[in-house]
Amino acid sequence: MHIVILPTANCVAEYGATLFIDQLSAKPDSVLGLATGSTPLALYHLLIAANQQQQVSFACAKTFNLDEYLGLNSEHPQSYRYFMQQHLFNHIDILPENTAIPDGAAADPVAACARYEQQIIAAGGIDLQLLGLGRNGHIGFNEPSSGLRSRTRIKTLTAATIADNARFFQTGDYQPHLSITMGIGTILDARKIVLLATGVTKASAVKAMIEGPLAAACPASALQLHQQATIVLDEAAASELADIEFYRHIERENQALLKRLKQQ
Ligand code: GLP
Repeated sequence: MHIVILPTANCVAEYGATLFIDQLSAKPDSVLGLATGSTPLALYHLLIAANQQQQVSFACAKTFNLDEYLGLNSEHPQSYRYFMQQHLFNHIDILPENTAIPDGAAADPVAACARYEQQIIAAGGIDLQLLGLGRNGHIGFNEPSSGLRSRTRIKTLTAATIADNARFFQTGDYQPHLSITMGIGTILDARKIVLLATGVTKASAVKAMIEGPLAAACPASALQLHQQATIVLDEAAASELADIEFYRHIERENQALLKRLKQQ
């Protein structure tokens, strides 16, 4: 794991946006894995600005979102399809047919899960996957106890996740308890992964992800198995890490090495 600790949530968004812009500059037809939640919003604003200023283009890119609520159709304001349209897709030059999100309204959701896996393979696999982090250590909607090699499937949400996401629903609105999510195995197949976590509410999940054992109890700990996973944290999210000075030291050395290589 490459751990980057930055002073503020804005710096985290800027770091993440740079990774996406660099990815698209190097490979304009990249396959991007995208996430919902509050954490990626600032990064999406930066990508929209960069796209509008013609610093980056999504015209040849394809995207696959991590997850969707089961039982909400794409027009539902709380669906993740709606979220992505509002917060990213409507404002950039991506082709609508190149944006994939699991179908929460599928007549046969089990078949929809298998189809999603096939679509990712047909696109050549995900080059760069963006992740947020649930307070309980979930990634996508892979809740604690999720199989570490799981594939896209229907998952039941925990009471904690339902409560955390209740803020997006109006009182009295139907809030789904089921989702379709890429599995942990699906996520680990991405060539590169960047997970963003900000705020003190994520600090204990961050600690379990980085310093805890590899365990289904903290699905994000599966990233310990990935060869190119970058974890970008603000100070608050990093605040429970026992070895924080060691991670800072490694990152300083990485930066110094990069600088030397650039000067050669
Ligand atoms: C949801 C999403 C996750 C996201 C998590 C954290 O449960 N399925 O992909 O990482 O929320 O969201 P937030 O960034 O709002 O804390």
